[in-house]
Amino acid sequence: SEPLDSAAKAILHGNDKGGYTVPTAGLYPYQWNWDSMFAAWGFSTFDIPRAWEEVETLFTGQWPSGMVPHILFHRPDPGYFPGPDVWGCDGPVPSSGISQPPVAATFIRKIWEQDPEAGRAHIERLVPQLADWHRWFMAWRTDRGAVFITHPWEAGRDNAPDWDNAMARIDPVGVGEYQRRDTAHVDASMRPTKEDYDRYIWLVQRGRRLGWDDAKMAEDPPFRVADPGMTFILLRANRDLEALAAEVGHPTDEIADWTRVLEDGAETLWNEELGCYDSRDAVHGGWGESLSNASFLCWYGGVDRPEMLRQLDRVMSKARYGVASYDPDGAKFDSKRYWRGPIWGIMNTLIGLGLSQCGHEEQARRVKATTRALIEDHGFAEYFDPLNGAPAGGGRFTWTAAIWLAWAG
Ligand code: DGY
Repeated sequence: SEPLDSAAKAILHGNDKGGYTVPTAGLYPYQWNWDSMFAAWGFSTFDIPRAWEEVETLFTGQWPSGMVPHILFHRPDPGYFPGPDVWGCDGPVPSSGISQPPVAATFIRKIWEQDPEAGRAHIERLVPQLADWHRWFMAWRTDRGAVFITHPWEAGRDNAPDWDNAMARIDPVGVGEYQRRDTAHVDASMRPTKEDYDRYIWLVQRGRRLGWDDAKMAEDPPFRVADPGMTFILLRANRDLEALAAEVGHPTDEIADWTRVLEDGAETLWNEELGCYDSRDAVHGGWGESLSNASFLCWYGGVDRPEMLRQLDRVMSKARYGVASYDPDGAKFDSKRYWRGPIWGIMNTLIGLGLSQCGHEEQARRVKATTRALIEDHGFAEYFDPLNGAPAGGGRFTWTAAIWLAWAG
């Protein structure tokens, strides 16, 4: 609708810092990797040059290794912890030392398709950069073909129950005193716990001590969990990268090989007992024991599985809106705490795109309709309580506005 379209555009403009967009004022005052790619897709619905600018700015932060960091600290901001001084990274732009879900190739393709001529120079430049990033994932973040994370923030699903077992193995000895900033912006009941934060910071301190050197960090790793979210997202991104590469005459053989490796890897995440795609501890073995909204990214990755449709029906029947981030029947369900229950519009979007691509139109329509109703009734929050739709986390949120413009609205 017109009022909501205007409100969504005003959010994107309000969070625009000139060349990049922050997720929301206060809580997240920098450029976040996947947030920014959703922002670019949102901008592309009314300003394609601005969409390309967002993408190009993100890639100015790419490391020589190919890694594209999860946060770029373009300008100092005391309202966020842990900032650039804690990460201690020396990439081309001050940044964090880990990556984030690589949705970029997929949204770059969507932006390019809207005006192929105007986008040609961009994709000619970006395809090799995307290939370097995907190659880095294949080299440093795969276990039996599934993509693992080295820090919960790398998955973007910070406190998902998926990581509980692996996080419990970490003794965050020596983490020291630090002051969280997130709970000054958002109620603590909607954020990760102190036990989680001690381990988040401990893992950052370890990376810094090792100079963020991939080979050193791979020795005796304290945390490595293969994630259905990262695996399906890279799988999908890789298919899109192959299409873009073909378009600009960049070699595609290597990219096609990665797709095959990831397809096999995805099957190593099938938890027979739980009947769903699940996260898997890549150091010690064992399941995350979590049916999450990332499990439902299978279709987005191009992997269809009838059991997952049945799981989706069940999960959607338990909550009024969209797809809860964790099984509402699960023992750890918490309708307000970040990735342990709340609905995320961006995840619904990726799930909906996947369902539609696999021909499950009825389910795709249902996910979209509930997401649209959620935003119409409760605004552009960061995430929402699945039971009553109550807005949670940050307000005036970039990616929620972006998916309204590009998909839900
Ligand atoms: C945070 O600070 O909560 C972010 O999710 C880290 O990426």
